[in-house]
Parts: sequence; C-alpha cells; structure tokens
Amino acid sequence: MNYGPLLFLGILFTLAASWLGLVVMPVKQLGSLQPDLNTNTSVVFPKPVPGEAAQGREHYRSLGCNYCHTQQVRREGFGSDIERGWGKRGSVARDYIYDRPVFLGSSRTGPDLTNIGERQPSYEWHYSHLYNPRTTSKGSVMPPYAFLFELRPIGPDGPSTDAVKLGGEFTPKSGYEVLPKPEAKQLVEYLRSLKSSVELPEAPLPKSE
Ligand code: HEC
Repeated sequence: MNYGPLLFLGILFTLAASWLGLVVMPVKQLGSLQPDLNTNTSVVFPKPVPGEAAQGREHYRSLGCNYCHTQQVRREGFGSDIERGWGKRGSVARDYIYDRPVFLGSSRTGPDLTNIGERQPSYEWHYSHLYNPRTTSKGSVMPPYAFLFELRPIGPDGPSTDAVKLGGEFTPKSGYEVLPKPEAKQLVEYLRSLKSSVELPEAPLPKSE
C-alpha cells in the first residue's frame, strides 16, 4: 500500500496545527493590544519611552545589560519577585507593546529592572553605580562602565555641577573630576523611565495601594 498521501497529510496537519497555535492564535489574542486609558485617573499606560531615554534604551541593548537583568515581574504565587520589591504587580503582555526588542531577559545575575525608576530615582546613585558598581554595592559582580564617563581637569570656575560624587578608593586624582558622557546620561534617563506601578485592567495593583 502507498502511504505517501497519508504521510503528506499527517505532516501538513502537524505543521498547520503548530502554525495556528504558535502564530495565528497569539497574534489574534495579543496582536491588537492598545495602551489603556484609566478613566478614574486619566492615566494612559504604557507610553513610548521619551526622547533621551529612547537613546538610552539603545545603549542598554548594545552594552548587553539584559544578559544579567530581566524586565519581567512574576505575579503573586509564581515566585517571590513582588516580595523582593521588584514591582507592585506582575508584568503582562500590554506592558511591552512599545518595546522593540523586548528585554524580557533570561538570567538574573542582577535584580529585575522593570521598576528600577521608582526603586532608585537618584541620578547621583546611578552615575556612581555605573561608573563602578562597587561604589554603591560592596562586592558587586556587575562590570564597571567607566568608559561612559570622562576624567577631566577641573576648570577655573571649580568643579562642574554634574561631576560624579566619588569617595574612598574611587576619588579621582587631585585637580580632576569625572563627568558622565551623553551615553551615560541617556542610559540613566532610560533606567529612571522604567516604572511599572500603574494599574491595568488585567493587572490590578494590590488593594492596599
Ligand atoms: C555580569 C552581569 C551584569 C551586567 C552585564 C550588568 N549588571 Fe547591573 N547588576 C548586576 C548585579 C550582580 C547587580 C547587583 C549588585 C549591584 O547593585 O551592583 C546589578 C545591579 C544593577 C542595578 C541596581 C538594581 C537595584 O535593584 O538596586 C542597576 C540599575 C543595574 N545593575 C543596571 C545595569 C545596566 C544599565 C547595565 C548595562 C550597562 C548592567 N546593569 C549590566 C549584574 C550585571
């Protein structure tokens, strides 16, 4: 007996079923997600990352920050992300509609950064931490990104206002100061823009909020 047509139909069915299940259904369910307008607070969420932060997002990608950091908070009952203070609610598909690419990440050598803009809004902290993570986090294994900063002689008018405040072994040599380059500024704007404590219909904030 010739099993050719049966085999062909079997393979066709298998491929068609996986295409339907893995491509068509997800696009139908999630492909048309729009930002949510909360009628009580008039807040639209999510929003595209603004100006400088959008450039910072490119640095986040090119410097490989997502190899060590995730941007996905597991919801209550699926891990301890919320107890660790990484977000007030779990992440949902709608959170990512403007993200190209999406930095879900797969390894958590460092903490999740979904909500870092709320957890750590200080420019000063971010600059010292990027310059050398050990300035703020003793023994950190995060690599220093000192090449995003420049060491400059202090001008005749004294130290500039955006000089990074470094102490101890990280203090620059006398007469010099460390200034963030535009890349560092953009990256910090991006980190500060990462805020997730906005309610969505499918992801309410805990009642006590
Ligand atoms: C080799 C892994 C690794 C890479 C790459 C890495 N980090 Fe980290 N990061 C860590 C670890 C570990 C910590 C926790 C210790 C600390 O605060 O330094 C951390 C902490 C942080 C924190 C503080 C988080 C908090 O909750 O306090 C921020 C912000 C951060 N990293 C940003 C970045 C950015 C931006 C990049 C890319 C330029 C980057 N990291 C690259 C490992 C990494």
